[in-house]
Amino acid sequence: MSQDNSDPYHHLHDEAYAAPYAAGRVGAAHMITMAGRNALSLDGEWRFVLDLYDEGLRQGWFKDDAAPITNWTTPRDYDGGVWQSAPVPSCWNVLKPEWFYFEGSGWYAREFHMDSLSDTETYVLRFGAAQYEARIFLNNQFIGSHRGGSTPFFIDANKAIRAGENRLLVQVENRRRSERVPMHHTDWFNYGGLYRETALLALPRCHIADFGLHLSTEQGSHILHADVTLSDQSSGTALLDIPELGIKQEIAIQHGQGTLDLAATPQLWHPDHPKLYEVTLAFGTDRIRDRIGFRTIETRGEQILLNGKDIFLRGICVHEDDKQTGKATSEADIRRRFAHAKELGCNYLRLSHYPHHEKAAKIADEMGLLLWEEIPVYWAIEFDNPDTYADAENQLEELIRRDRNRASVIIWGVGNENEDTDNRLSFMARLADTAHRLDPSRLVSAACLINREKFAIEDRLAASLDVIGINEYFGWYEPSFDGLKKLLKNSAPGKPVLICETGADALSGRIGDEHTLFSEAHQVHVYRKQFAILATATYIRGITPWILYDFRTERRQTSIQQGWNLKGLIASDKTTKKQAFDVVAAYYASHKNL
Ligand code: GCU
Repeated sequence: MSQDNSDPYHHLHDEAYAAPYAAGRVGAAHMITMAGRNALSLDGEWRFVLDLYDEGLRQGWFKDDAAPITNWTTPRDYDGGVWQSAPVPSCWNVLKPEWFYFEGSGWYAREFHMDSLSDTETYVLRFGAAQYEARIFLNNQFIGSHRGGSTPFFIDANKAIRAGENRLLVQVENRRRSERVPMHHTDWFNYGGLYRETALLALPRCHIADFGLHLSTEQGSHILHADVTLSDQSSGTALLDIPELGIKQEIAIQHGQGTLDLAATPQLWHPDHPKLYEVTLAFGTDRIRDRIGFRTIETRGEQILLNGKDIFLRGICVHEDDKQTGKATSEADIRRRFAHAKELGCNYLRLSHYPHHEKAAKIADEMGLLLWEEIPVYWAIEFDNPDTYADAENQLEELIRRDRNRASVIIWGVGNENEDTDNRLSFMARLADTAHRLDPSRLVSAACLINREKFAIEDRLAASLDVIGINEYFGWYEPSFDGLKKLLKNSAPGKPVLICETGADALSGRIGDEHTLFSEAHQVHVYRKQFAILATATYIRGITPWILYDFRTERRQTSIQQGWNLKGLIASDKTTKKQAFDVVAAYYASHKNL
């Protein structure tokens, strides 16, 4: 029961129980660059309990003392989750069979110890991601919240942290809702939890909040552009150090901001030679370190140019999904994913349909893979809802702030398969403009549908995009391939087009011929026909078949799929290749020099 002794039944009648926590929501503006920073990891076993009815917010569980149930004089509904636990990071769905379909709130609790606090430091909690909304409580105080299920967020802990024992509670809520991004209808499983790393940062009071470094080409020579943003309005001098380029350059900082442009001749980053440079930036007592690759990406007519040269993007789509861990991933899982992509002959991947773990772009930098990263503006988002737009734009800005120094990332995707309505057009054109404003060094795209009246690649959003993404499933959802031939013949997009999804379901090992749906032979047939027809359109400058691995999705309940999307080239064991894997690999081998 509530600690509010005036009326022990108050919480039963207050349906505005979440209102007190709307303030204090953090977003992109609160982010801190993590490049090379040390942090106190808070990962490991936390106490945990599910809260289907949001009793935790209704009754203010975070206000409770930690008295054991044996000491209580009046009953409560929460005793710190002491009877259950959950590893952080993890998705609660895969921890216990009875938690598999849970959509609601989960409460995580743990303590951490601070030997002492320093008045020259500021203390910030960093969460790699929480699906979907999180509220943070430290030592019985609400200290902040965040929404958006796949981007990192930073919570100022200073008002509540203390020397000695600190008690941290985190409420994570993963309900599917029409106003969210994504909304309540998706073709992937709705996991929940604190599923990426969690840590406490102790930073100099004045520290480097944001740092960008990218290369451009101007009048034929390469220019490095650096920008620095501090956590406050301090002025002074930052020092940029790139030893291998012989760069040790001061950057003047005025009122918390500074920029520097300088000529440089780095070895250019490319998938075939992914050269990375050690970069450090220092201001006052703060120092960050990163490994950064330098390249340029642009379009010219219907071409995509990497370092000024036309490139054909040989890709594959991937979800963050695993039979054992759900949406929680690991370095090994990412490296396996990328190794399979390399085995296919890929130089590129589409990280669908939401920001993947930050390790993905770092590992792609090392391994030499180009990336399309995107936010989950997926299907029928509430395009007329300003708060939905604010959520989507914040997720986009958090993604760009997080990965802006990753050479592998060349495209920001602002949505997927959305009906071409007026509301969608203004919503997504605004997102595309935001992406261009925040990061003029990369391309902006979206996975569009074809114009079915004209039967052409013609989407009003294309005017805001550098590259037009097209999802098409001729041979699967539209059995006749004639439609694809007609589509390509009718289209004159005038800018590069990427087929960012195509494919067919196939149950691994299902025998049949090219007409047997869900057979491997049929999946092979679809890819063979697709590649032959797509090759006729010169404006198609890349393809990402849907998808590398079979993945969980509740909306597919045939006797063959049983809750899985089987369009993978590899089964959900992430080991068993289907026959179509070799067909795609052969196509890419024949397109190495396109
Ligand atoms: C759509 C959608 C994917 C989905 C796929 C499919 O294009 O973008 O998220 O999984 O088609 O139907 O398998």
